[in-house]
Amino acid sequence: MLRSALLNVMIKAARKAGRMLKRDFGEVEHLQVSLKGPANFVTAADRRAEEILREELAHARPGYGFLGEESGAHEGPDKTHRWIVDPLDGTSNFLHGIPHFAISMALEREGTIVAGLVYNPANEELFTAERGKGAFLNDTRLRVAARKRLADAVIGCGLPHLGRGDLALSRKELAAVQEKVAGLRRFGAAALDLAWLAAGRLDAYWERNLSPWDVAAGLILVREAGGFITDLEGGEAPFLTGDVVAGNETMHRELMGLLKDAGKP
Ligand code: IPD
Ligand code: CA
Ligand code: CA
Repeated sequence: MLRSALLNVMIKAARKAGRMLKRDFGEVEHLQVSLKGPANFVTAADRRAEEILREELAHARPGYGFLGEESGAHEGPDKTHRWIVDPLDGTSNFLHGIPHFAISMALEREGTIVAGLVYNPANEELFTAERGKGAFLNDTRLRVAARKRLADAVIGCGLPHLGRGDLALSRKELAAVQEKVAGLRRFGAAALDLAWLAAGRLDAYWERNLSPWDVAAGLILVREAGGFITDLEGGEAPFLTGDVVAGNETMHRELMGLLKDAGKP
């Protein structure tokens, strides 16, 4: 498949960091048996992956800004371009030997996401999208699922956990959605979950309190696959608010409606 120079840059960086993450994932499976577990090891792997990505991207596109989960914001002389990177999305999965995790990377140009990549090194699924050029899983063009009835839908979500999120609100939302749909899933890697939605594996998705690096790449994947993704009020910049609802046009509208009702006092 003929890819743009930009995507080639992103893919090269992702594959290099991905090779390292995959080796470390193998190591994690051994460390599971120790009492303390592999937590420190994983933190180091996460940082190393971001260093590799930053180096590779800076080498290919010197001057671009960089926002990474691990190293924060770095301004470059080129104020119009910024990479937004999560070197390891799905850390808890990685830590527990669950092969659902990914590198997530997006390019923002003058405030608009123009390219996105989500790569799971465990199974080598590579999701890419460029503005106006479609979304792909490896070489196959993606389209969001066409289902129109909540009753047929399998819906993904994020859930609050120890020390994070609004548990009471989440329980209301779950109760409202659960009774209307064919199935709920919590896979644990927001960027990869959105890529799965772009691939038609999930019919809709919602989560609150995400960070830009969780959403930026998934956002363009979903839109380029023909889907809708907004914040919970329907706003077009969910990576700014951190609240996300996504699906095909009908699923997106229906799910947003359910969540609005659930949030009412
Ligand atoms: C997390 C995952 C998870 C989501 C969390 C994120 P991390 O990212 O995407 O699915 O529920 O809100 O923070 O910490 O694994 O990079
Ligand atoms: Ca993340
Ligand atoms: Ca992360």
